Amino acid sequence: MPEAAASPSPITDPWSDAMPQALEGEILNQRAWRMPDIVIYQHGPEEWWVAPLDEELPLVRLNRMGASLLGAMDGRTTIGALLNQFGKWVCSPHHLNGRWHLERWATPRFSLAYYGTEPPSGHSAEAKWDLLLQKVREGWHQNVKAETEDHLSKFHVQGIQGPHGHFEIIETTVSHLFREPCEAMQGLTYGRLLGKTLRQMGWLSPKPTHIVEVGAGLGYVSKELAGELSTEERQGIAYTFLDLTRPFLGSQTSLARQAGWHATGIQANAECLPIASGSVDLIIDNENLADMTPVHLSEEELLTFKGATPQHDDALHLIRRMRLPLIPPFPDEVIFNYGAMQFLQEAWRVLKPGGRAILIEFGIEQDWPSPVRLPGHTEYEVQFSHLRHAAKWLGFREQYCTLPQLLGMKRDTQVLCTGAAYTLRRFCQELKKPFSVRAYTERELKTALGDLHRNINGLHYHNVLDPAWFGLWDFKVLLVEKPGGLGIGQPPAFKTAGGGLRWYTQR
Ligand SMILES: C[S@@+](CC[C@H](N)C(=O)[O-])C[C@H]1O[C@@H](n2cnc3c(N)ncnc32)[C@H](O)[C@@H]1O
Repeated sequence: MPEAAASPSPITDPWSDAMPQALEGEILNQRAWRMPDIVIYQHGPEEWWVAPLDEELPLVRLNRMGASLLGAMDGRTTIGALLNQFGKWVCSPHHLNGRWHLERWATPRFSLAYYGTEPPSGHSAEAKWDLLLQKVREGWHQNVKAETEDHLSKFHVQGIQGPHGHFEIIETTVSHLFREPCEAMQGLTYGRLLGKTLRQMGWLSPKPTHIVEVGAGLGYVSKELAGELSTEERQGIAYTFLDLTRPFLGSQTSLARQAGWHATGIQANAECLPIASGSVDLIIDNENLADMTPVHLSEEELLTFKGATPQHDDALHLIRRMRLPLIPPFPDEVIFNYGAMQFLQEAWRVLKPGGRAILIEFGIEQDWPSPVRLPGHTEYEVQFSHLRHAAKWLGFREQYCTLPQLLGMKRDTQVLCTGAAYTLRRFCQELKKPFSVRAYTERELKTALGDLHRNINGLHYHNVLDPAWFGLWDFKVLLVEKPGGLGIGQPPAFKTAGGGLRWYTQR
């Protein structure tokens, strides 16, 4: 077995900006865990591939020695012992030795392994994928404190170059995962099931004549929603997309027009809608609230109602006007979903009497929102009890439930781990084989991968409602209706669907 040089020539080295970790001192006594449920592709009799977490880095190719090194990272062996056993041997077809791999695999950009004295979960023998991922995300976002409150709108206006890949890599949404029919969605797509649910709730009759979809991403929800309405029903409906990201508007309008909507797009911020008052029947806002402006309020600002900036003053003024019940003591700093509140006020303004809005996003009901770190930007949990309070204060009739409840999702469906789907996408990209990230059952994945499926190891499936899959229980739905429409004096406009749908406390 030939020994290898420590690294390839820097000129052609695609790894040159991936900083290695020095293997010396205490670290040599730490143990190594390979990433739990790592997905491995066998490309040939003597070649295996694994994917670093960072999309910018090339795939890691291993020979038999490299595969043995990965196999030996089982939490029992120390880094020192692994270095002795594999350090000098060629571990990949690129002639990289074991030391080269050991120096990189536990860095955030690779995230193929974890080094420590205890397993990362701290309380069980199992290394936990989500905890590892959290560490990785912290690695991506060392500059969180420096982010300004307008970084989200800047990111959407300037930071997204094109629609391709954004929802496959940067932020995969629930509607993106379920854009193809899936057993978990009663054999339908997300958008189609949402449409069916709106119909069951009576929201499609009388027919809305002006629908505004805010932050529609690629436009799959509207495409699928179109299928729920007949051609005759769609006639006379104006479908307006409003999005901060210009490149998404093209995809939204073209998918919607193909699906039969009379669609137009406006590039604008949902926190200040360029739409006439009292002109809209239905607003759809799917997974967008967490992207709206956060305001970081200090304890002192909350206690004195004096803001450090005009925007903070506005936020405090709003809190006071709507008598949001905030009880001291407060943490040193809190996040207030100011942008989402602005949007809700705008929704009140632009809706016709009797008009309705459906707002879906991940969030919490107690305490203060936390930041959620994604590549290139940070989003913020939505505090739904604050938002519901604001909705009632504005005059809306409101209802609230979780997303799985709204859609009556089938809890026993097993779907592919999303981490595995990202990895498969990379393997297929390298093999020039089409593959898209979505929620796959095992049968659907076998069809999508064909013969390739036999050469993949480590594929694993979760119950679709298991928090370890996509945290679907964290997604909440706020349904609001502006009184004064035909429904006034009638029984409540929201029908509770037959199949056990239970709303949270209503007004
Ligand atoms: C997480 S994506 C959700 C996309 C889509 N609704 C889905 O479910 O896949 C957020 C969307 O909202 C848009 N967006 C973010 N902030 C916005 C704002 N303040 N006003 C309007 N659109 C915004 C983004 O450009 C993107 O289309």
